Amino acid sequence: KKVVLAYSGGLDTSVILQWLRETYDCEVVTFTADLGQGEELEPARKKAEAFGIKEIYIDDLREEFARDFVFPMFRANAIYEGEYLLGTSIARPLIAKRQVEIARETGADAVSHGATGKGNDQVRFELGYYGLEPNIKVIAPWREWDLNSREKLLAYAEKHGISIEGKQEGGSPYSMDANMLHISYEGGVLEDTWTECEEVMWRWTNSPESAPDEPLYIDIEFQGGDPVAIDGEKLSPAGLLGRLNDLGAKHGIGRIDIVENRYVGMKSRGCYETPGGTILLRAHRAIESITLDRESAHLKDEVMPKYAELIYNGYWWSPEREAMQALIDATQRRVNGVVRLKLYKGNVILVGRDSSNDSLFDQTIATFEDDRGAYDQKDAEGFIRLNALRLRIAQRRG
Ligand code: ARG
Ligand code: SIN
Repeated sequence: KKVVLAYSGGLDTSVILQWLRETYDCEVVTFTADLGQGEELEPARKKAEAFGIKEIYIDDLREEFARDFVFPMFRANAIYEGEYLLGTSIARPLIAKRQVEIARETGADAVSHGATGKGNDQVRFELGYYGLEPNIKVIAPWREWDLNSREKLLAYAEKHGISIEGKQEGGSPYSMDANMLHISYEGGVLEDTWTECEEVMWRWTNSPESAPDEPLYIDIEFQGGDPVAIDGEKLSPAGLLGRLNDLGAKHGIGRIDIVENRYVGMKSRGCYETPGGTILLRAHRAIESITLDRESAHLKDEVMPKYAELIYNGYWWSPEREAMQALIDATQRRVNGVVRLKLYKGNVILVGRDSSNDSLFDQTIATFEDDRGAYDQKDAEGFIRLNALRLRIAQRRG
């Protein structure tokens, strides 16, 4: 018996590693992903080695994450419940996919993760596993063991000589998750919805108050709906998102504090920093505003909440997500051009958009000046009268 564990190197997953061996008498393969969370991964390797793990996978998935997960999601302008940019939700399907691949490579028959039984992440991981490998065995220690308090967990760690200086927890009183799209905070004092979070909680961004007094102008270039360059400099997907994170963090952009509806039924309060994503969403909508046909744009906007909900709930690897993605992608072919933004104290301010070959914005038609016959105002009369016909009939009926 062999299990592939999604291993961060932190206290919780280290306890899980030991617990798996003890409970299932199995061999454990550890898998640690670099998703741009900005953490050293070598300590995870060292720890796994100290446990005597023979098969240790540490994969740099940053480019794949940005290119095949974050960017496709941003083509849809996806937002959950009006606010959440889905930073954690979009990372889970990639972790699940890689875990399943490693299970195949190493001949493992099971996979395991460190998500609790109360949240969304368990659903996302496991829908991913089953969706990609129907007969896989899933072990979710948090749903099985009786180490259901911090105290018991620490006692177990102590007993097995596991260092309780969990690097992931880093002394933070919050449950956190980070990747190159966002960092999240839940739990602790946030469980009181009235308590304002303390400034020290935010790890990535300057506060709007302490952000520079000088605004920063940036140009973002899009091709086929994806960002490809900043200020004329071509960047890889991960490179570009990383650059936007740096700029956004400096200017106090992308903090939110929300109460969201988890798929498992409860409401949960969370704080998120998504600096680059917040900029990207504004920029993408702006380039679409001149390049997308009205009805295509509106159709996308109707589909978007459903698409966002699918990702939030963990259905990335589902036929309906793929069908919606095909629809969204089909609208993006001519979403090309440049957007100019001003970053200033927590604000992303749109100042310009331009597309030389793909703009549908026609100045000669839109102008308030003489349009030289490009648009006949008389046409509007019949247009309005026909559209008013049913209103008039209804009004006459009384
Ligand atoms: N509530 C957010 C979501 O469901 C963030 C979850 C954070 N996960 C974590 N293991 N701390 O996407
Ligand atoms: C967890 O339960 O492991 C974190 C929160 C969530 O998944 O929603």
